[in-house]
Amino acid sequence: MAQKLVVGNWKLNGSLAANEALIGACGALAGVEMAVCVPFPYLAQAASLLAGVALGAQTVSEFQSGAYTGEVSAEMLAEMGCRYVIVGHSERRALFGEDDAAVGRKAQSVLRAELVPIVCVGESLAEREAGRVMEVVGRQLDAVLASVGVQGLSGVVIAYEPVWAIGTGRAAGADEAQEVHAAIRRWLADHGAPKGIRILYGGSVKADNAATLFAMPDVDGGLIGGASLVAQDFMAICRAAIANGDD
Ligand code: 13P
Repeated sequence: MAQKLVVGNWKLNGSLAANEALIGACGALAGVEMAVCVPFPYLAQAASLLAGVALGAQTVSEFQSGAYTGEVSAEMLAEMGCRYVIVGHSERRALFGEDDAAVGRKAQSVLRAELVPIVCVGESLAEREAGRVMEVVGRQLDAVLASVGVQGLSGVVIAYEPVWAIGTGRAAGADEAQEVHAAIRRWLADHGAPKGIRILYGGSVKADNAATLFAMPDVDGGLIGGASLVAQDFMAICRAAIANGDD
């Protein structure tokens, strides 16, 4: 796990012109793995423009094919050149009714297509204030384990994204993030998962706080929303990941 992984989540943003400019200004750097998760219609464009930066999608159907109007399968994403697929983002959970079991099934569908699910977990502010962080995160992880099995966990990236930190400008403190990442690491060990599973932090990661977050021993990279839309910010975050890599 020498290199950190920094993933941009563009969310519902972009245009052909804006994407071309953004990707053009976000070249691959040595010493960090970089990826961008773009809206479905732009996968082909991004695949043609990216060089040394992996492509990803932001959600996926749990189904492979059939009468599921509007859905996109993991196999289709693989064919378009994706390596990563975000599943269970808190916006999908809160706004589109994805429950823990559905997130588990989506993670399994991504593995079935030999892609890497980036499984998002995290608590709301009310849950944090009630001292329920690992109860919530553990429940979210249990559902993924139930679908993918212990072997499947080895192919997963986990993203800890506290809901209260997403898009708010209020990132978790580095110590707060580290505490949960270490607890997730313990959860993985307790459930027999192989070592080396990456745990990313997401939620208001910016150029000016990335280095302190990435310096934490159990923070293996970042899932970046707003700052991934600004080339110089995303590149600064990637450089912070290089500087705080394991070797
Ligand atoms: P922000 O970086 O905009 O807070 O978004 C984080 C996120 O949701 C990444 O998936």
